[in-house]
Amino acid sequence: MRMYDLIMKKRNGGELSREEIRFFITNYVNGTIPDYQVSALMMAIYFQKMTEAETYELTMAMAESGEMLDLSGIQGIKVDKHSTGGVGDKTSLALTPLVAACGIPVAKMSGRGLGHTGGTIDKLESFPGFSTALTIRQFEDNVNRIGIAIMGQTADLAPADKKLYALRDVTATVDNLSLIASSIMSKKLASGADAIVLDVKTGSGAFMKKEADAFALAEEMVKIGKSAGRKMKALITDMDQPLGSAVGNALEVKEAIHTLQGKGPKDFTELVYALGTEMLLLGGVAKNEQDAMDRLQGAVEDGSALKKLKEFVEAQGGDPRAVEDESLLPKASVAEEIPSPREGYVSSIVCDEVGICCLMLGGGRETKESPIDLSVGFELKKKVGDYVKKGEALAGIHSNDALKAKEATERFLKAYSFTDKKPENTKLIKGRI
Ligand code: URA
Repeated sequence: MRMYDLIMKKRNGGELSREEIRFFITNYVNGTIPDYQVSALMMAIYFQKMTEAETYELTMAMAESGEMLDLSGIQGIKVDKHSTGGVGDKTSLALTPLVAACGIPVAKMSGRGLGHTGGTIDKLESFPGFSTALTIRQFEDNVNRIGIAIMGQTADLAPADKKLYALRDVTATVDNLSLIASSIMSKKLASGADAIVLDVKTGSGAFMKKEADAFALAEEMVKIGKSAGRKMKALITDMDQPLGSAVGNALEVKEAIHTLQGKGPKDFTELVYALGTEMLLLGGVAKNEQDAMDRLQGAVEDGSALKKLKEFVEAQGGDPRAVEDESLLPKASVAEEIPSPREGYVSSIVCDEVGICCLMLGGGRETKESPIDLSVGFELKKKVGDYVKKGEALAGIHSNDALKAKEATERFLKAYSFTDKKPENTKLIKGRI
């Protein structure tokens, strides 16, 4: 088999066979096929697209390019959750202890933030001492003992995706539905869960800006998961403005804690309960939607979800007192208000811009190696549809550097638009697959 022939076949609109896909993945990972040939193939795929069968084979070849985690040592149906990423998306921080408190074993691999989106691992590191560098053994033991563990992705998990993603990133071939679906699902399948709930984001802060594209991506990923024998569910949810109020690592941790105390923002709470419901149903813990909601609300009201968060933080070396005492979380030296430049209704907030403003404060990475400031970020006091008077606070900004704060504030204000007429309510959950 020759890579040249595969490139030519795809370029001319042909369908690659399972053997051809396995050939290119195996030989790309072992270094036999060079980047320039794979770049050419990615570009051919970008223009010619892939069939469902090809997308499935690519996913499986990438998943099996490294270690396939065997979670059979963990009792119960393991339900994973994956978000395609966004701004203020602290869902895993509240959702995982909540469903663990309801009896779902949570054995989750998470990532760090990159670009304008945040990552669960960075956020969790706001708890002093917290570590996600667990061995597989510790990971399994923690799940069996307290029902929850989150670790960073091991170097050997879907290495083909790691290499391909880095290549796509620099060859303008990221935004192809089959390539995104196979990239995400290869990692999820290799992580070993029995069931997967996907939160596919759409809007200005998401990867899929258009709703129709988000639906198509969700459908494709659900099909792949089902073909691989996993139980699947996907929600398509709004990311046209930041989720909840907090954007920034430690601020988001606080908001997740408030949500487990029953006093979280409305949209974030709604999303956590909606995803939690799907997880409890797929995990066989709840009989129906109402039963799932009752269990989730019960775990918040009786404090067991918050208690689970403390156990989880402690089991991974963090200081559990920070769950009760927010002063133990990283805190920026300056907290100020950003006053509204005019009176009216907030009509839109360019979501990725808010993520970039947080990055400008030091709250995200420019490169994979950059250090991040966990304490900085924004607390949105006005969101789309809210009325604001001139001079009233639109948001709070938390910073450690006056110049960065000034620049970020100017850019933050440009992300907001106003109108005199009340805009229509936006729907948080746009669909279910
Ligand atoms: N996230 C991934 O893991 N892969 C993609 O291709 C896009 C988003």
